[in-house]
Amino acid sequence: MLDLVIKGGTLPDGRVADIAIKGDRIVDVGPVTTPAARVIDASGDLVAPPFIDPHFHMDAVLSYGKPRVNASGTLLEGISLWGELRDQASVDDMVTRAVTYCDWAVSMGLLAIRTHVDTTPDHLRGVEAMLEVKRRVAPYLDLQLVAFPQDGLYRSKTGRQNVLRALDMGVDVVGGIPHFERTMDEGAESLRDLARIAAERGLMWDVHCDETDDPMSRHVETMAREVTRHGLGGRAAGSHLTSMHSMDNYYVSKLLPLIAESGMTAIPNPLINITLQGRHDTYPKRRGLTRVKEMQAMGIAVGWGQDCVLDPWYSLGTADMLDVAFMGLHVAQMTHPAEMARCFDMVTTVNAQIMGLSDLGLRKGACASLVVLDSGSPTEAVRLRPDRLCVISKGKVVSEKARNDSRLSLSGRPATVRRRHQP
Ligand code: FE2
Repeated sequence: MLDLVIKGGTLPDGRVADIAIKGDRIVDVGPVTTPAARVIDASGDLVAPPFIDPHFHMDAVLSYGKPRVNASGTLLEGISLWGELRDQASVDDMVTRAVTYCDWAVSMGLLAIRTHVDTTPDHLRGVEAMLEVKRRVAPYLDLQLVAFPQDGLYRSKTGRQNVLRALDMGVDVVGGIPHFERTMDEGAESLRDLARIAAERGLMWDVHCDETDDPMSRHVETMAREVTRHGLGGRAAGSHLTSMHSMDNYYVSKLLPLIAESGMTAIPNPLINITLQGRHDTYPKRRGLTRVKEMQAMGIAVGWGQDCVLDPWYSLGTADMLDVAFMGLHVAQMTHPAEMARCFDMVTTVNAQIMGLSDLGLRKGACASLVVLDSGSPTEAVRLRPDRLCVISKGKVVSEKARNDSRLSLSGRPATVRRRHQP
């Protein structure tokens, strides 16, 4: 007797199949005739692996307007506002905001998140809070924590020491922010230092790298070199990489092969970088997204990250990775159907690869985490960003939504336009 069967759904590759679940495992994908305690009819619906967000800041989530609204809309004013808020916020406040956000995430089929935790303040309340959140949501949502020295590894007096303290407390991933160190030299040295720490501890490494419009901010070159030197390929990611938008094309033609050689991955964050970058420009105004298609053409794994929801840097956000893919495909001009389908993969399977979540996928033996969407295909899902009808995490139904049957049909024929309804 099975626990659950998802019947007749369309998989992202176009196959129609049943998915059999027992315990927290997918035990079969194909025609399933074994009886089950529950059967969910997914005929005509897309059944996909869960959405994954490889770049987020959960210690700041849902704090928009505290202590003030970001008047200039810039990254630097956001950092300054956060610098005030992080010392005012209690552990309980951060836990409450983060757990609320995790509920939003689950309702959207977002079941794994990598969140950077600011390790700058000596009190490390953010680390304490996020470790507690990770423990609480573990039954249904996987959190990876990154030790993130927001004010610089060296620029902040205790920056390096606090990264090590956070890792000792159980934070999973080594962070970094080389473009925020005092000089280019110190930024490069921070990367050499952090790469050694990641290698010695056998940890993953994820760096806020070159999140600037300065075309001469070239820390990604040093990062790629250190990833190659220490053999960190596959477990190192460069987040943002926005300076690459403004770099000279000839230099980029040398840079991309170095990144590909290293095996490191890339995480652009289109919702945030389209709004934060180019703020010092008049016109033409740069859009600040890194070179997504060009990296993919070189074989570099590129996912889409969300970065922020209602915090000092961003006044919007829904926990919907399809919003992220939708913005990303516009800014990166990925409008071909194959590119739209790739954008869906980026927020599901590629992001899982970036985070090292090899247990996920719609295959026999994999963890039974998946989402049923009110759309017929990945490209339609990216276009409509439709309702998540059912979300299953580790074998358990964690969110359900009634199908919207009140579709408009002015012609009298069944309407084909599906709509999204917020929780
Ligand atoms: Fe970030």
